[in-house]
Amino acid sequence: MPDIVATSSALGTPAERREGPDKVTGTARYAAEHHPEGRAYAWPVPATVARGTLTDIDDKHTRAVPGVVTVLTHLNAPRLAESDDATLAVLQNSRVPHRGWYVALVVADTLEAAREGAEALRLTYAEEPHEVTLRGDSPDAYVPEDSDGTSGEHVRGEPDTVHASAPVHIDATYRVPPLHNHPMEPHAATAEWQDGRLVVHDSSQGATKVRDVLAELFDLPGDRVTVTSEHVGGGFGAKGTPRPHVVLAAMAARVTARPVTLVLPRGDLPAVVGHRSPTVQRLRLAADPDGILLSVIHEVTSHTSRIKEFVETAAAATRVMYASPHSRTTHRVLPLDVPSPSWMRAPGEAPGMYALESAMDELAVALGIDPIELRLRNDTGTEPDSSRPFSSRNLAACLREGARRFGWAGRDPRPRARTEGPTLIGTGVAAATYPANVSPSRASVHAAADGIFTVRVNATDIGTGARTVLAQIAADTLGVPVERVRIDIGSSDLPDAPLAGGSSGTASWGWAVHEASTQLAARLAELEGDSLPAEGVEAVADTEGTADADSAYARHAFGAHFAEVGVDTVTGEIRVRRLLGVYAVGRVLNPRTARSQFIGGMTMGLGMALTEGSTLDPAFGDFVERDLAAYHVPVQADIPAVEAHWIDEDDPHLNPMGSKGIGEIGIVGTAAAIGNAVHHATGARLRELPLTPDRVL
Ligand code: MOS
Repeated sequence: MPDIVATSSALGTPAERREGPDKVTGTARYAAEHHPEGRAYAWPVPATVARGTLTDIDDKHTRAVPGVVTVLTHLNAPRLAESDDATLAVLQNSRVPHRGWYVALVVADTLEAAREGAEALRLTYAEEPHEVTLRGDSPDAYVPEDSDGTSGEHVRGEPDTVHASAPVHIDATYRVPPLHNHPMEPHAATAEWQDGRLVVHDSSQGATKVRDVLAELFDLPGDRVTVTSEHVGGGFGAKGTPRPHVVLAAMAARVTARPVTLVLPRGDLPAVVGHRSPTVQRLRLAADPDGILLSVIHEVTSHTSRIKEFVETAAAATRVMYASPHSRTTHRVLPLDVPSPSWMRAPGEAPGMYALESAMDELAVALGIDPIELRLRNDTGTEPDSSRPFSSRNLAACLREGARRFGWAGRDPRPRARTEGPTLIGTGVAAATYPANVSPSRASVHAAADGIFTVRVNATDIGTGARTVLAQIAADTLGVPVERVRIDIGSSDLPDAPLAGGSSGTASWGWAVHEASTQLAARLAELEGDSLPAEGVEAVADTEGTADADSAYARHAFGAHFAEVGVDTVTGEIRVRRLLGVYAVGRVLNPRTARSQFIGGMTMGLGMALTEGSTLDPAFGDFVERDLAAYHVPVQADIPAVEAHWIDEDDPHLNPMGSKGIGEIGIVGTAAAIGNAVHHATGARLRELPLTPDRVL
């Protein structure tokens, strides 16, 4: 039997990504890179009206294109069973709920023929008036049901009365535009029916969920559907649940009885795979002259589509952050004729903390109190909204450590105090938080007679290093070198597991891997030196995770973000000169991949602050930015030296690894830190993102 050693240094070491060589040599396969014999290609056709009904379809020119196999519309597409996601009910009826909604699919022998056929399709619509503009004061906005404790409205005490009578007030409204995830790999699927079985390669953050939804839509038992997501080129929430492409690919494969690949054109993504809803956020802070918060009121209005309610829960983090005896946090959603919004990295927290942490900076300026000191004075050991103690909360340590590393001491708080020629220099700080989520998962670990251990779990590696950290968890628990652990992930035929999302993947999958490894180690110990049976020994674990509502503790990660900016007074251009984050995230399991996660989040936060934003054209009724030339994701030249650090945190109330999620917190406070630095540099308080030169001048 394999030798079991007492200790291993696998967990906590900076192991390199297991799939790194495959990715850089081009051998890692993505969803569209599977080449089943005889595959066809599909090209989708988006609606060209913002609201209405499809009244006539003329496909004779399309069918005349050489190589076109078929044209699917609501008249001939397979009927789908009902699901609770209306965005997946594609080609089921003639309604057009928003511009860009898919109304047809052309399937052909080649990609070129499919595209040519799609362009030759003549569609006629009965157009209806549409409305896509979000107004914070719209009477049609409603307070959604608070199904999970993060949406709806929460009230403590008498916030309005206290606000009115408090000695110091801030009342400010912040605006964040629609934002798009734009992963490098667009949404793509290759689907095939094999003797009544549906086999799909999908670019997804969670193949178990895609399997379940496809089984539901196509009315199949779950064991007749296999979904793999072997490698995924980013998602950031846009691939968190199935999107229409995978349904269309499965439909086309069924109708043509051929394997079909569908890769969504980049220009279609803004309308069909979700976006961060724009928010209008009014923040009212009331404090005493020492900066002690008396009342916090955070009111958020976001939009949703006509077919699906999605709430950008921007006030949720305000329920976590600062002690205040009185508070009201309110979400309102306004249904419009817009594409359906969805998750984008730190949904809720990212725009919400931009508003709260900007308002805290405004309060610090109004009081003449250092912004770090103001946050320390309002720190709390219990979660304000639930009164539960935090399992660990080291926000103060993050702020202090960040201040030390950044060189905050001695900062002249006056705006416009530092210049370099025509450039104004400023520094800013903001806090960050993100919940430590854990979901149920299953995993198995097998010990073979040759000393190799195989972990099987339907985790997804969306570029984070999931394979690597799961191998470290197994090796550490088993007490074996990490090189002896094989990892099988990315297929729904593996033990069921939750998606890579909500910064919960490692905690959820890792808990099950830890549990299965623990059981396996115990069974191997029982062998007492006897050799393993030929088939090896396997242990399977189901872990529940811990739902937040069931916990005696409030479990959240915290962080502090620091930024230094230079603002060119001639051009209005803002350059971020330094970005530094310090995080309290439980135990860091792999410093190398963790650092990548943090600086990736901070980079996305820099984009949110300075360059990213989508525009809903009121007349056109859709997003104007359709490619990466118009939607400005930051490039290498935009990114300064970004530093990510963390403090040791020993929290026994999380999971067996003692870790909190790290995928999202990096974005959370970054935009506010940059905006606060811009105020420090210029004296101008800009409350609408992104901070482009036209707004600065
Ligand atoms: Mo993330 S927005 O939970 O994929």
